[in-house]
Amino acid sequence: MTDDAPAYAGPRRILSGIQASGALHLGNYLGALKRFVALQDAAPTFVFVADLHAITVWQDPAVLTAQTREIAAAYIASGLDPARSTIFPQSAVSAHSELAWILNCVARLGWLDRMTQFKEKSGKHKERASVGLYTYPVLQAADILLYKATEVPVGEDQKQHLELTRDIAAKFNTDFGVPCFFPLPEPVIQGPATRVMSLRDGSAKMSKSDPSDQSRINLTDDADAIAAKIRKAKTDPEPLPETADGLADRPEARNLVAIYAALSDQTREQVIAQFGGQGFGAFKPALADLAVSALAPVTAEMRRLMDDPAEIDRVLKDGAERAAAIADPVVDEVKKIVGFWRG
Ligand code: AMP
Ligand code: TRP
Repeated sequence: MTDDAPAYAGPRRILSGIQASGALHLGNYLGALKRFVALQDAAPTFVFVADLHAITVWQDPAVLTAQTREIAAAYIASGLDPARSTIFPQSAVSAHSELAWILNCVARLGWLDRMTQFKEKSGKHKERASVGLYTYPVLQAADILLYKATEVPVGEDQKQHLELTRDIAAKFNTDFGVPCFFPLPEPVIQGPATRVMSLRDGSAKMSKSDPSDQSRINLTDDADAIAAKIRKAKTDPEPLPETADGLADRPEARNLVAIYAALSDQTREQVIAQFGGQGFGAFKPALADLAVSALAPVTAEMRRLMDDPAEIDRVLKDGAERAAAIADPVVDEVKKIVGFWRG
C-alpha cells in the first residue's frame, strides 16, 4: 500500500491460533501462548484452535477432538481469561470456511508457490500432499480478515503467511473498490524467543514433528523430564560469553539464553550480565529450575482442566457464539461486495 492510500479506521483487534495437531511445546508457549496473554488487555482478543488447518495432514478423529480440548486448556492455563478473550474452535464458526473459499479466488497461484512452509511440510512428494495443505495460508488469511484483526502475535515461522494475508487483503480491497474494507494486519513477532530451537540441534526449530522427544520440552512434561532434557541439551565447551554479541556463532548457547530470557521476562543482555563467564555446568541447572517453576503452574492447571472437559466445552461453546457474532456480519458484507445473490 502506498502512503497516500486511505488508512483503515476500524478498532484494534488481536487474533491468533494454534493448530490442533501434536503436543504443545516450549516454542509454542514462548513464541505464542505467553505473547497472547501479554496482549489480551490491549484490545479485544480472539484466540482459536485451528482444527481446519490441522486436517490438512491426516488426523485421527478421536485424537483431533482431544487435541482441540488440550489446546483450549493450554490457552486458559497460560492465563487467557475466557471472559475477556474469545476462545473457540475454528470449525465451529462456519464463516472461516466460507471466507476462505472467496479468498482462494483472490489469491494467486504464484503467491502460494512461494510459501516455504508448504515446501517443508509437503517434502519430496508434493503431488501426494492434500490440496488443503497448499491453500492453508489462504485459510489463515480468512481467519485473520474475518475479524478485521489488526495485530497477529505469532512466532517467526509465520511471517511469510502474514505477508500473504496483507497481499490478499490489499488485492480484495483494490479489486472490489473497497479501499478500507480489510485492514492490513501487522504481525507481532516480539520478545527474545520468537524462534525457539531444538535442544538437540541449534540450527533446527523446536517442532511438534521432530521425531526426537529429547529435542523439545512438551507442556505435558513433568519436572523430572524437563530437568533431564535441559541437562542433556546440546551445548559447546566454552563458558557463556561476557556480551550478547558473543552468542552470534553459538546457536545452542544462544537458544538456551533466549529461553532463559523469555521465561524470566528479561532481555538476553540481562541474562548475559548475570551468567556471562560461567560454564553450562552452572547455567543449565539454573535454567532447569526456572523452566520447572515457570511451567509447573501451567501444566498443573492444564491437567486440572483436562480432567473437567465440561468446563473446557463451556468455554469453547460460548467463545464460538461470541466469535460468530463478529464473523457472520463480516462474511455477509463480503458476499454483498462480491455480488452474490441475496434475495
Ligand atoms: P503451530 O504449532 O505450528 O500451530 O504454531 C503455533 C504458534 O506457535 C505459531 O504462532 C508459531 O509461530 C509458534 N511456534 C511454533 N514453533 C515455534 C518455535 N519453535 N519457536 C517460537 N514459536 C513457535
Ligand atoms: N498457521 C499457524 C501456525 O501453524 C496457525 C494459524 C492458523 C494462525 N490460522 C492462524 C496463526 C491465524 C495466526 C493467525 O502456527
